Amino acid sequence: MTQNNSKLTIQTTSPEETVQLGNYIGNYLEPGQIVALIGDLGSGKTWLSRGIGAGLGISQNHHVHSPAFDLVHEHPGPIPMFHMDIYRLNDFSRDDELWISEYLQSENGVCVIEWANKFIIDLLDEYLEIHLNTLEINETYRQFTIRAVGDSYNKLLNNIKKMHNSF
Ligand SMILES: Nc1ncnc2c1ncn2[C@@H]1O[C@H](COP(=O)(O)OP(=O)(O)O)[C@@H](O)[C@H]1O
Ligand SMILES: [Mg+2]
Repeated sequence: MTQNNSKLTIQTTSPEETVQLGNYIGNYLEPGQIVALIGDLGSGKTWLSRGIGAGLGISQNHHVHSPAFDLVHEHPGPIPMFHMDIYRLNDFSRDDELWISEYLQSENGVCVIEWANKFIIDLLDEYLEIHLNTLEINETYRQFTIRAVGDSYNKLLNNIKKMHNSF
C-alpha cells in the first residue's frame, strides 16, 4: 500500500557519519530482523555495520570488522548481531544454505549481511534493504537507499525516516 513511500535516500560525507547513520538504524532494529547490504567494495558496508552494532548496544570489545574470511561473526550483546559477508562465497552449497538459513531464522539476534545480493536475497521474504553507492563528485560521499521489503519492515523504515527528518 505504501509502495511509493517505502524508500529513503540519505547521504553521508565521512566514515564517521556513516557509523552515525548505522547507529540510528541499529537503535530501531528488533531481534529477528535482517539488514541486506548491497554495494561495491569500499562503498561503506563494513563501516555501516559497525554503526549498526553500536546501535544494537554491542560493546566496543567486540570490534566490528569485515568478516570476509570467516563469512560470519557473532557479536554478543543486548541484541546480538550476526554479521555476514558473502563476498568470498563462490558456490552456494546445500550446507551453506542450511547454516545461513539458521542465522536468518534466528529470533534472538539481528542479521547484517554484506553482499546480500549474492545468493542470500533469494532466501528472504522480508528484510531491510540498503543499497550503497559511491558518488563520484567527492570520494567521501556515499549515498544510501533504504527500502522496506515486506510490510513488517515499514515501521522500521518509518522510524528511520522520522529520525532523518529531525536533522
Ligand atoms: N562517507 C563514507 N562512509 C563510509 N566509508 C567511507 C566514506 N567516505 C570514505 N569512506 C572510505 O571508504 C571505505 C569503506 O570501507 P568498507 O566499509 O570496508 O567498505 P565495504 O565493506 O563496502 O567494502 C573506507 O576506506 C572508508 O574510509
Ligand atoms: Mg566489508
